[in-house]
Amino acid sequence: MDTYKVLVVDDEEQNREFLKGIISEAGYDVDLASSAKEAIVKLTQDTYHVVLTDLYMPEVDGLEIIRYVVKHELGCIGIIYTGYASVETAVEAMKIGAFDYVTKPFKPEEILVVIDKAIDHLKLKEENIQLKEQLRTRYRFDSIVGTSDRMLRVFDLVEKVANTDATVLVLGESGTGKELVARAIHYNSSRAEKPFVPVNCGAIPEELLESELFGHEKGAFTGAFRMRMGRFELAQGGSIFLDEISEMSPNLQVKLLRVLQEREFERVGGVKSIKADVRIIAATNKDLDVEVKEGRFREDLYYRLNVIPINLPPLRDRKEDIPLLAKYFIDKYSVEKTGGIREFSRNAMNVLLRYRWPGNVRELENLVERLSVLCDRPVVEVDDLPDKILRGTAHVSSIIPHIELPDEGIDLSSTVSEFEKSIIIQALNRSNWVKNRAAKLLRLNRTTLVEKIKKQKLQKPAEISL
Ligand SMILES: Nc1ncnc2c1ncn2[C@@H]1O[C@H](COP(=O)(O)OP(=O)(O)OP(=O)(O)O)[C@@H](O)[C@H]1O
Ligand SMILES: [Mg+2]
Repeated sequence: MDTYKVLVVDDEEQNREFLKGIISEAGYDVDLASSAKEAIVKLTQDTYHVVLTDLYMPEVDGLEIIRYVVKHELGCIGIIYTGYASVETAVEAMKIGAFDYVTKPFKPEEILVVIDKAIDHLKLKEENIQLKEQLRTRYRFDSIVGTSDRMLRVFDLVEKVANTDATVLVLGESGTGKELVARAIHYNSSRAEKPFVPVNCGAIPEELLESELFGHEKGAFTGAFRMRMGRFELAQGGSIFLDEISEMSPNLQVKLLRVLQEREFERVGGVKSIKADVRIIAATNKDLDVEVKEGRFREDLYYRLNVIPINLPPLRDRKEDIPLLAKYFIDKYSVEKTGGIREFSRNAMNVLLRYRWPGNVRELENLVERLSVLCDRPVVEVDDLPDKILRGTAHVSSIIPHIELPDEGIDLSSTVSEFEKSIIIQALNRSNWVKNRAAKLLRLNRTTLVEKIKKQKLQKPAEISL
């Protein structure tokens, strides 16, 4: 836990020591100053979270310290106390920017309550700044990584549509970045300051989805004890992201169509029409053409949604982005950590390039996150990769040369055995005869490999001695 630093300013030593005692007892770091001048010097030289000062002191008074802190934006909270309390000075102190005002004589708890409150306030402020910063960096356009032609085309499109109100349909396999693109559109549009409201249509039970989207009036159904706003209303002025749109029931598809056509809706159980000033971005990983053909998705709704389709290519169709994404996620998951991974070895990267990535970017991200916890060397080698990925790249056919069956035929068993031997020797040599690692390269478990080594009568070449 961070320790917070408090500067106590008082011209009387007894007061300073008394305050130091109770405040440091409460776990704060305490520093003392015997005059406003000394306090100001300290404030410029060190970082304090709270300055607690007496009001009346010879030469310069406590209000000057508060003024100084506010003027120089030291981010430090000023609290003032005085034995000669008067409403006017209290008001003045607050006007200047003091956080609170305590009158003497005070009990130790009183002063601590005020300091705790000040620290809470400070933390909240910090969190807010961080949150804003996070929002900016996360959804700035360049948080979508990619330099492949297909992704560059996606970026162009996102840029073009962002500043229109056109409905966008984002299409792509699971984990290709559909939600990321939806957010990028919103945060790069003139609606950026207003809410971005995601709704996962596939995750909310059909009976609830309608009131989730449009809200309900009090008494609309059993359990509707009070009026509740739906996501469309919450997104007013901003954008709504309808994820997994293909999962919407036929009944709701009709209602959504109406919103798209008339830009208004009613709460469940309500009669009043509510205007929807909301930009609609929908997404699905299903092929909506098929859904329409098979009668599961309304054709008219499809056309309304499909004004501007954005197709996100699967990761295996833009392999040139894999090294870049891997680097991006390595940086993302190794911050604040001294260990973690730095890169993939060339061989390991080759495996990643050959893998099919059914879970697309999300799967790659999960892999890097997992390795940055589990892998205990900075460069990830092939045998650090999980079996699933290794197995997924075992396209034997791509490495075996085409062998023409001779006219006279061959002895299949001995040919296969020769082939096996040659591959096993290569694997053993490459892993310095560490059988675990060789087994991993061959996607075998260790015992199977050991059996094969025995059967083939393979031996580690003797060290050459001079
Ligand atoms: N081009 C990219 N650059 C950086 N991160 C990406 C990129 N594409 C996807 N991601 C990351 O991968 C994860 C999955 O992305 P997202 O949730 O947008 O996918 P999705 O297409 O909505 O998936 P699903 O269909 O499963 O909902 C997220 O953590 C996202 O930040
Ligand atoms: Mg998604």
